[in-house]
Amino acid sequence: MNLFSPIHHLFAPHVDTAYLLQTFKLFFTPWKWRRGPESELLRAELSKKLHGDVFLFSSGREAFLALLTALNLRKGDEVIVQRYTCIVVLNAIKAAKGVTVYADIDLNTLNLNIQSTEDQISNTTRAIICQHTFGIPSDTTALQSLCEQYDIHLIEDCAHVIPETCEADFAFFSFGRDKAISGISGGAILSRNPEISTKLKEIEMSAEHRPLLFIKRLLCYPLIYSLARPLYRIGIGKVLLKCAQILGGLVPIVSQKEKNGSMDPRLFKIPNACAALALFDYKRLHEKNDHRRMLTEFYLKEAQKNGWKFPSRITEHMPLQKFPIFVNNADEIRKKLKRRNIHLSDGWENCPGILNLPTHPTMSLKQAKNLSSLLTHLL
Ligand SMILES: Cc1ncc(COP(=O)(O)O)c(C=O)c1O
Repeated sequence: MNLFSPIHHLFAPHVDTAYLLQTFKLFFTPWKWRRGPESELLRAELSKKLHGDVFLFSSGREAFLALLTALNLRKGDEVIVQRYTCIVVLNAIKAAKGVTVYADIDLNTLNLNIQSTEDQISNTTRAIICQHTFGIPSDTTALQSLCEQYDIHLIEDCAHVIPETCEADFAFFSFGRDKAISGISGGAILSRNPEISTKLKEIEMSAEHRPLLFIKRLLCYPLIYSLARPLYRIGIGKVLLKCAQILGGLVPIVSQKEKNGSMDPRLFKIPNACAALALFDYKRLHEKNDHRRMLTEFYLKEAQKNGWKFPSRITEHMPLQKFPIFVNNADEIRKKLKRRNIHLSDGWENCPGILNLPTHPTMSLKQAKNLSSLLTHLL
């Protein structure tokens, strides 16, 4: 599959032959799309690993909104978050009637700077969102003690990584198409607070089912991309994706409404088909993380050899979701690479000084070597 595939972040990064087969099986068993045993199996696996109650929703952003709702965020309550995050996180805070307060990031980790976070705490602060950006661990111990000191909630944003352990009482996860594991769409909350777990259970039970047509569109994603990816180089893939988009065959990761800063406050249950794919991927998590570690180690060595700057806390033991490097003009580099059929746009382009390199399961070492040698000329 890698032979003709362009280097990319978002062209179905988890979809290999085995994943495609699973999708095919699901595609022809529509009675399993909404309900089935896989949702409960996924819940049980995550609950066992993370030692807490797990609640499932149709996306990470909905899981986060459900948690803010269960925490009974009042109008005007402040939530501290880093600016280098995904817009859907900010939209969820807004949808819960909260106010986003930004803290600076630490350039060694791309995660919250502890001093700046403390400086932003006020009488109305209710929660701190501790994001493990691209899988670089955040200093949860320091943030946890801040939260205890000021009596506020710490919520770990584990959208980019399924960590070995979670320290906070609350965390949320994404099973989006480019995350640690992929259900194409899906999200989970971990809660270790019995009172909040009771509320979350009610919220999950009253969540709506996604329409069957919507689930079908989700299942089209691996099928369409696995056709388009090898044909992208000769232009047919691009046309295929455009047609699929126009005909409504694909669900965008972030809708136009979300890009404009608002979120539909309705919550949906995870479709069983998405849970089945997430569970399938979860069983391959070790393998996937080993692959990510191998590419992280490779980029790390290349960065050290070539003098590229990167967040200094990265080590070869981290299964990074992508490898960030600091550059002068990331947009310009992405444009130059695009002419060579290398697509490094990943939804994190809002910071002009950061270029992210792919580490996903279908990115090969050979592709990483090609990318690295091109970058040595461009940087
Ligand atoms: C840091 C971060 N948090 C939360 C989310 C939300 O996840 P989802 O796409 O499953 O809603 C994303 C991704 O979109 C993300 O990058």
